[in-house]
Amino acid sequence: MRTGLLKHSNYMEFLRSVPSFKTLTEDVLSKVADVLEDTHYSDGDYIIRQGATGDTFFIISEGQVRVTQQKSANEEPVFLSTLSRGDWFGEQALKGEDVRSANVTAVGDVTCLVVDRESFKQLIGGLDNMSNKMYESEEMKAKLEAEAVFFSQ
Ligand code: CMP
Repeated sequence: MRTGLLKHSNYMEFLRSVPSFKTLTEDVLSKVADVLEDTHYSDGDYIIRQGATGDTFFIISEGQVRVTQQKSANEEPVFLSTLSRGDWFGEQALKGEDVRSANVTAVGDVTCLVVDRESFKQLIGGLDNMSNKMYESEEMKAKLEAEAVFFSQ
């Protein structure tokens, strides 16, 4: 029981430090701390596979992950981003379509706090940065870079 309380207060302390959660009340954070599952991964483990169905949201509490995406069936996945402590992922499949849009793999040892779809919906999903989060496509990035070069000449 003491361990349970200690864990809960450690989770609370960490959740308070996540920038995207700063508008969540103590009450909501406490409910998140109640439902989350602490999950460990080793170097190279797939945390999420592109194309799989998904029901979970992840907050990184230790380590780093790599996000990659396959543009079409016969192409190699391209690197999109590295995420670390305090970052979160897996929200896309919880908004409407439940298919994962990218691969997420562990870089070294990783601990994620995992929240199920229903709790995500009730506690976190309403945050603006969750519901509006959009990722630039590679095409859009290339276009913006080309524009930046053009305007800097
Ligand atoms: P989801 O589609 O559920 O599973 C893969 C996750 O990778 C996705 O949610 C996002 O959280 C994350 N993701 C997708 N594209 C990017 C990107 N360009 N940069 C960072 N994270 C991404």
